[in-house]
Amino acid sequence: MSGLLEGKRLLITGVITDRSIAFHAAKVAQEQGAQVVLTGYGRMSLVERIAKRLPEPAPVLELDVQNAEHLNTLADRVREHVDGLDGVLHSIAFAPATCLGAPFMDAPVEDVTTAVQISAYSYKSLAAAVLPLLGRGSSIVGMDFDARVAWPAYNWMGVAKAALESVNRYLARDLGEHGIRVNLISAGPVKTMAAKSIPGFTELEDGWDSRAPLGWDTTDPTPVAKSICALLSDWLPATTGSMVMVDGGFHATGQ
Ligand SMILES: NC(=O)c1ccc[n+]([C@@H]2O[C@H](COP(=O)([O-])OP(=O)(O)OC[C@H]3O[C@@H](n4cnc5c(N)ncnc54)[C@H](O)[C@@H]3O)[C@@H](O)[C@H]2O)c1
Repeated sequence: MSGLLEGKRLLITGVITDRSIAFHAAKVAQEQGAQVVLTGYGRMSLVERIAKRLPEPAPVLELDVQNAEHLNTLADRVREHVDGLDGVLHSIAFAPATCLGAPFMDAPVEDVTTAVQISAYSYKSLAAAVLPLLGRGSSIVGMDFDARVAWPAYNWMGVAKAALESVNRYLARDLGEHGIRVNLISAGPVKTMAAKSIPGFTELEDGWDSRAPLGWDTTDPTPVAKSICALLSDWLPATTGSMVMVDGGFHATGQ
């Protein structure tokens, strides 16, 4: 039986540990027949080591989404490994400590700007950088945490995610004419390095399992990884500008 992503060439950003959502997306994608190219930020030797834990060896390209040269050369560097792309995962977020957990009212605008640039604007930057490689029917996926409400501790990262949700709609609007789909996965809480940097993460995750109709395991990134792969596949061909909830159904319930 052939896999869901047989023959697909994917660029997956955001691997930093083997708990990263992106690592699990890459793993499931390879299991489903995809050829994967990774990007890493900062600690490249660590990312290369983690990449070796995937079922198949995957090349790792350096990408700091704040670095114009990295972005300008990305398409050419990807072309050294694959002749085009069928899908891209943006799994990147960062906010300075003043923006997460600290009093919401105190975050300086420079820190908020950094959070929005890395976590929301970069979705557009990445899409623009790889656009020459994407054909009709290709798919761009980003990672969201439902920003329609105010959460404990999430603060300015929540604001950055609200911006990401809007960027998703505008990218879908502009890339539709190229036949490119652009969608977000809104995931429930998963214990990763990014999650650990949220001082109030336990407040966020507490009660998720009991309130979600399907239950929720914060230590299991596989449901999120599978859902990313579904969006990267050909099986949601008329879905764009959407936010797919992958949270055990938590969003649909009241207290
Ligand atoms: N873990 C959760 O509970 C959860 C829930 C919903 C959404 N998300 C989102 O999923 C995505 C992946 O996060 P994760 O939980 O797997 O954590 P993670 O820490 O494993 O991944 C975050 C990634 O962002 C990268 N990054 C940070 N600054 C960067 C920059 N300037 N350029 C390029 N890359 C940069 C890091 O290198 C890292 O690989 C993020 O967008 C996060 O907000 C996470």
